[in-house]
Amino acid sequence: MKNIDSYTHTRGESIYLDDIPVQAGTLYAACFDSPVAHGKIKHLDLRAAENSYGVVRILTYKDIRGINQIGGIIPDEELFAEHHVHFCGMPVALVLAETDHQARAAVKKIKIEIEPLTVITDPRVAAALGELIVPPRTFKIGDSTAAWDNCDHIVEGSAYTNGQEHLYIETQGAYAIPGENGVIKIYSSTQGPTAVQRAVSKVTGLPMHMLEVDVTRLGGGFGGKEDQANTWAALVALATQITGKPAKYSLGRMEDIRMTGKRHPYSSDFKIGLNKDLKIIAYEVTFYQNAGASADLSPAVMERTLFHATNSYFIPNATATAYSCRTNLPPNTAFRGFGGPQGMFVIESAIAKAADELGIDPMEIQQKNLLKTGDEFLYGQKVVSEANECWNKAVEHFNASKLRQEVAEFNMQNRLYKKGIAFMPVCFGISFTNTMMNQGRALVHVYTDGSVVVSTGAIEMGQGVNTKILQVVQSTFGIDAAKIKVNSTNTYRIANTSPSAASATADLNGKATQIACTAILDRMKEVAANELNVTAGSISVCEEAIYLNGDRTTMDWKSLVLLTYSKRVSLSEHGHYATPGIHFDKTIEKGHPFAYHVFGTAITTVTIDCLRGIYEVDSVKLVHDFGGSMNKVIDLGQIEGGIVQGIGWMTMEEVVYDQEGRLRSNALSTYKVPDIYSVPKEIVVEYLETQQDNLAIFRSKAVGEPPLMYGIGTFFGLRNAIKNFNPGLRPPFAAPMTPERVLMNLYPGKPTVETTSATLEITAAPSI
Ligand code: MOS
Repeated sequence: MKNIDSYTHTRGESIYLDDIPVQAGTLYAACFDSPVAHGKIKHLDLRAAENSYGVVRILTYKDIRGINQIGGIIPDEELFAEHHVHFCGMPVALVLAETDHQARAAVKKIKIEIEPLTVITDPRVAAALGELIVPPRTFKIGDSTAAWDNCDHIVEGSAYTNGQEHLYIETQGAYAIPGENGVIKIYSSTQGPTAVQRAVSKVTGLPMHMLEVDVTRLGGGFGGKEDQANTWAALVALATQITGKPAKYSLGRMEDIRMTGKRHPYSSDFKIGLNKDLKIIAYEVTFYQNAGASADLSPAVMERTLFHATNSYFIPNATATAYSCRTNLPPNTAFRGFGGPQGMFVIESAIAKAADELGIDPMEIQQKNLLKTGDEFLYGQKVVSEANECWNKAVEHFNASKLRQEVAEFNMQNRLYKKGIAFMPVCFGISFTNTMMNQGRALVHVYTDGSVVVSTGAIEMGQGVNTKILQVVQSTFGIDAAKIKVNSTNTYRIANTSPSAASATADLNGKATQIACTAILDRMKEVAANELNVTAGSISVCEEAIYLNGDRTTMDWKSLVLLTYSKRVSLSEHGHYATPGIHFDKTIEKGHPFAYHVFGTAITTVTIDCLRGIYEVDSVKLVHDFGGSMNKVIDLGQIEGGIVQGIGWMTMEEVVYDQEGRLRSNALSTYKVPDIYSVPKEIVVEYLETQQDNLAIFRSKAVGEPPLMYGIGTFFGLRNAIKNFNPGLRPPFAAPMTPERVLMNLYPGKPTVETTSATLEITAAPSI
């Protein structure tokens, strides 16, 4: 089934936040945010702005009736700066005016005097100063310290990955509308309606039942609206609470890029030990996560980095430690993969460096250490592995030896163009690592005409979750898709939602939908059985016809619905699902946190221009473990999009903050994202369909985040191409590998390459 939104999307008729008809009297909001990354506010002058044309009111922390606090995991984030600013872009005041233009014009008239304080942008500097968001955590299996003695080869090094701007097409925003008796309805572009409701509740002091949050869909989220949509919702709700008027804030692109956090940059140290058979015996890694100025979701992101520190490999002795470091950048946040990609990049770097030292292809080490069913992760869970199946199928199906031979032949024939190839196996755990969040709910109503409406906690953000929810209703009831409507996500219909995140949305909300539909159907079957004087077990529904022991009856879906109603039996149900069997004990850092894992292997080939440093991704060919895909079209879209986004992170997207903590890459003129021309010339997805049972909805495994990590293969493909130009080169493990950096890596004349918050040494190469 194609995405149910495709018709309105292509006609431009889909409703996003900015398409909601605006009520008369709506006030438009705009933020005055800190121009300084760290300092003490000496004086805030609002007079000129207050007298600016169309301005109705300007709000600061003094106007807050609840608490000036929006921190989700840790209460360390002020909505408005009170006495100190902690990052460039931190909200200080909110202008409310009659038009959008007037509000933004008035913002420019606000003056602020700030006494500057020391600005920290480097996580290692923050860690050295003890500026940590939470105490460090260590995951451990075996005894890595003792295991070095059993290693024949030991390699150490550092790795660095930069941040990534979410660049959802729809910018952040919210619209608040006053109701009776102080109730506020909030339309928000959020992945987490309940997170918005909680944040607004804190700031306004209103109980959660006074706050209705409604979301039709988002124009993309990618993690950027898991927590960071709260700010704008809290601001407009506060404006409505104080003025009694509707208030709207739809951020401009530059406001959005400047004021919101991004993927966490990581700076890491690794040490890896192998025996002579290339088995990884020991691995130690230390991660320095650049959290930004407040916690946001950083502790959870850091946790997932630790969970994925060994990617697809079984390592008997591994110790992984992570520091979440407080810097003066906007609070960094969830981004597709949620710390997993950062962890995987480091183990892949360690393997690549070991391969460098041994003069072999990294794939030899990768292949020898893939997880097998029954192997244990460093957090104690035993794996049900498809790692070898994906790898082997990729090798066979795409004829990997021929691919490698073609690369070698091309490189023999070309001096100034070189190809590179890399394998990227991926293993990603599915479930929120915070066990509590793994619950979902659905509300299903069957109307007397036989049509059905379903509401869940799932947010449609382009990933196609509503289509999957509809498919669950369709196949559980045995009715036509045209009879089913998926409603907006609304906190009055579905309470206490987990954010649509962690790739788990279709599983959690789909299973809840299945539970609700099954309960209604069971009651309907009971009614039919009574009518026919048979047992309910002999009744089934298929294509809207009612069957008795496989024989069609005169009853159909619609007449049975009416009959059920006439018998005064409920045609509505609220379903609740909680993932079974998962647990994690943080005191020992062991447990079974994931419902299941998703596997895959990608083979990436690239061509670099060794004169200019520019390059192309020739192909990404992969085998992906779908379990049994319930919607191949949607899943393919997720895979392709994930790969391109991962390639963007690894190759061209370069978040640049200067020493003063000001974002230099603050617009699309200075921040390059993949366009259609940077998409690999070929993406081939081969489905690994497995038979064993799993906890995914209809056995169709989660597909949101895992494919992003195939993009890491492009970094190592480029690195391989550079080494094919000159085998003596040792390009540092610093992403993104922009064309400039490819060029510098090809001709390492300078002793160092400056990255945004790490300086990595380049080993001098022999002359060509
Ligand atoms: Mo997603 S990065 O789990 O919002």
